[in-house]
Amino acid sequence: MKVIYESKDDSVKKLAEGIAEAMQGIDCIDLQNGAYVESIADGELVFLGSGGSFMGCGKSTKEFIKKLAASGKKVRIVLFGSSFIKNSAVNAMRKTAEKQGLKPMGDSYNCKGRFLFLNAGHPNSKDINSAKNLAIRLTKN
Ligand SMILES: Cc1cc2nc3c(=O)[nH]c(=O)nc-3n(C[C@H](O)[C@H](O)[C@H](O)COP(=O)(O)O)c2cc1C
Repeated sequence: MKVIYESKDDSVKKLAEGIAEAMQGIDCIDLQNGAYVESIADGELVFLGSGGSFMGCGKSTKEFIKKLAASGKKVRIVLFGSSFIKNSAVNAMRKTAEKQGLKPMGDSYNCKGRFLFLNAGHPNSKDINSAKNLAIRLTKN
């Protein structure tokens, strides 16, 4: 199990680190530092996060999704993110993944994201807890 994320201004990073902590300190990998598809095992659960960006998700996230799809590995993906427009980060990631033939899990988490001075203060501790709770719920049993 891993958390892999892209974060321009640390919003998604806060959610990512919350999920990793809730999962007892699993690897939490910033795509900017290189997230290698080779390090992902067949059948592994990956929490994949990005912010909404120019009506899509992050560029590194798109590239990662393409590489993951090309690897042919059957990875279970849980999407999370933050965006100004409601759910747009997760929706954009899902669209990108499905275009590549991947099928992320239906459950996902997208909180409000900052845009200029709007939504300042998000993700707040409640948002981070919601992301943690989703991870806990999906991994119990
Ligand atoms: C240059 C720029 C473009 C953005 N484009 C979008 C967008 O198209 N849709 C959206 O919902 N939010 C957009 N946002 C808001 C971000 O998704 C939001 O701030 C998010 O929390 C960023 O997370 P991060 O800082 O961890 O990458 C944009 C923000 C910036 C700075």
